[in-house]
Amino acid sequence: MKQYYALIFSTTNKNINNFSNSIIHNFQNKFLFIKIKLINNCNLHCQMCNHWQQSNEPLLSIDFYKTVVDELALLGCKRIHFTGGEPLLYPKLEKLIKYIKNKGIKATLTSNATLIDNEKAVSLVKSGLKKINISIDSPIAEIHDKIRGNKGYWEKAVDGLSNIRPYVKHLDLNVVINSINYKSLVTLPDFAMQLGVNNINLIPIYEHTPDIGCLTVEQIQEYNKNIAPIMLQKALEYNLVENESEIFIFGTTTKEVEESSLGNYSHGYYKTNNCYVPWTHSTIDFSGNVKICCKINEPILGNLKKESFTDIWNGITYNKLRTNENMPISKQCKGCLMFAKSNLKINEMLNK
Ligand SMILES: C[S@@+](CC[C@H](N)C(=O)[O-])C[C@H]1O[C@@H](n2cnc3c(N)ncnc32)[C@H](O)[C@@H]1O
Ligand code: SF4
Repeated sequence: MKQYYALIFSTTNKNINNFSNSIIHNFQNKFLFIKIKLINNCNLHCQMCNHWQQSNEPLLSIDFYKTVVDELALLGCKRIHFTGGEPLLYPKLEKLIKYIKNKGIKATLTSNATLIDNEKAVSLVKSGLKKINISIDSPIAEIHDKIRGNKGYWEKAVDGLSNIRPYVKHLDLNVVINSINYKSLVTLPDFAMQLGVNNINLIPIYEHTPDIGCLTVEQIQEYNKNIAPIMLQKALEYNLVENESEIFIFGTTTKEVEESSLGNYSHGYYKTNNCYVPWTHSTIDFSGNVKICCKINEPILGNLKKESFTDIWNGITYNKLRTNENMPISKQCKGCLMFAKSNLKINEMLNK
């Protein structure tokens, strides 16, 4: 996410004015950051994820994506992030990354890293990949493997991370905090430091299943009292986070902790503030559906098999979202932490 803010804040004054105007007058802006869920399939069976449980659809072709990338480049897109399912299962990934790079767009991705041998690491980086997010849910192998569905995945993920680390400029570690792993995270900063990680992204669990869920109030209190303070001290020392809120993701007040235990992680931010995601971001899924962001499935704003991205992005349905009254759109949006930080920064920028 840091790159994303950097993108917005390192732009020229003219661009910032365009962006302010787009918010004030409901125009679209050009700070486009796109997520593409390339594939629904996955080689792992994580307890907290529904991708591997869903039916598989035929993959969209590389030519299909190239046409979309052409449009995105014209619209001013600066970054395309691949996710899934497991994006490394997409057969022509490197070709697509190269195509994106040649259009002047930065390509990044999130992976479970189990498929990154040395050859794959080299080919990904040669194609133009500069940044990767790798998901490892615990410094303790047994805990990661329990969450991710089988023995040996932790070792494969650590090997994959180590294979690609020397070649990429920036490597983030994604960790989904849940009731199974939270106690083990006390040594996470040391683990991340040893692996040469640049940032740790602690992610609260969404769409929890009965087996692996949100932390209870008592578990969050335990995390806040015994685990987070140690993590914070080390993570700041190693430069793995920027501030306290990145470790204390469940908040600290009684109200915030209670809300977080119910899956509402934005600490009430959207009660008084807007979400600017429809101006800055879009998600394309493996069926070509265009959605507001990767966390919500509805509404579908259009399908790229039937319409161009430009028509969808400039269309009535999208523009309706770009009014302050309409975003955030749902209860699920209101509890989401994903874009809260960028929304806060945009708010500060607009109020300057
Ligand atoms: C859906 S995965 C796809 C990329 C890749 N397969 C991986 O696991 O990194 C993208 C990110 O979402 C995280 N994730 C999976 N299930 C989640 C959940 N229920 N709540 C929050 N994050 C989740 C993963 O750990 C990963 O960092
Ligand atoms: S590796 Fe990623 S996509 Fe696959 S099941 Fe796990 S979280 Fe989901």
